[in-house]
Amino acid sequence: MNTADLIWLNGEFVAWEDAKVHVLTHCMHYGTAVFEGERAYETPRGPAVFRHQDHLQRLENSARLYYMELPYSKEQLREVTHELISRNGFKSCYIRPLVYRGYGPMGLNPLENPVEAMIAVWEWAPYLGEKGKREGVRARVSSYRRISSDSLIPHAKASGQYLNSVLAKIESLKSGYDEAILLDDKGNVCEGSGENVFVIKDGVITTPPQTAAILDGINRKSCMQIARDLGYELIERDVARAELALADEVFLTGTAAELTPLVAIDDLAIGEGVPGPITREIQGVFEDALWGRDARYADWLDLVPVPSQA
Ligand SMILES: Cc1ncc(COP(=O)(O)O)c(C=O)c1O
Repeated sequence: MNTADLIWLNGEFVAWEDAKVHVLTHCMHYGTAVFEGERAYETPRGPAVFRHQDHLQRLENSARLYYMELPYSKEQLREVTHELISRNGFKSCYIRPLVYRGYGPMGLNPLENPVEAMIAVWEWAPYLGEKGKREGVRARVSSYRRISSDSLIPHAKASGQYLNSVLAKIESLKSGYDEAILLDDKGNVCEGSGENVFVIKDGVITTPPQTAAILDGINRKSCMQIARDLGYELIERDVARAELALADEVFLTGTAAELTPLVAIDDLAIGEGVPGPITREIQGVFEDALWGRDARYADWLDLVPVPSQA
């Protein structure tokens, strides 16, 4: 992992190696933190954070669902993110804000523990690799089901919930695949370990709905809009497991993975076993949107202000 010079921790810019917490920090024991994964891209108008406001809103929503109030306003977090990117001299980077229950009483009641915040940025290649984005990846259906709203909050991006993704990811890697697809509690397709999923059959694009316990992906929303703008029919509905193998094309979206084609599921080739034409078309427009090359989606980019020389 590439490091950066500075991390923002509870209101201060500190050196990467000095960004420390106490070992009894509540979230280390009980997963009581919420976070975001965002990316900034080097656009022709300078570095810009993709759908920054949407990420900050989801961070606030996740915090609220876990009875935390953001200790800084969304606007403050937005501004310090800009400053952090500039002060580290990054043009493109991954951004990880975390709002967490800090050091205080131990035990399962977190309400007396302080709510603290940090933001880190670093340069990070696509989660499933550049090669994966170009040539596609292979996945298995996980033996772990995606967390359901019976026991946790699929809509929240909360740290403890990610043990579910961690187990699915380890299982997929250890059994020789690149990624895991998790089913929901009804046995329908839910999502990848850190991506939403889209299935294409006979020119129609389908993606599981909110009620399938997905995380409401920001790149999911972006690719849904792009697909519709390109004139495709896009439906949100439950997707049966077998539809993955019988699809013409499948692709995954997420901040870390961007748009990555899925070319095989459970050792069965999807379509021709290579990224298909509709996937390529959406991927091309999506990449242009991310990198600021498509004026139609300019509103999705939050430009990092150039620091004043004063
Ligand atoms: C479990 C899970 N699903 C889906 C996504 C995709 O969400 P987004 O497009 O907002 O990055 C992510 C990544 O944040 C994730 O961790």
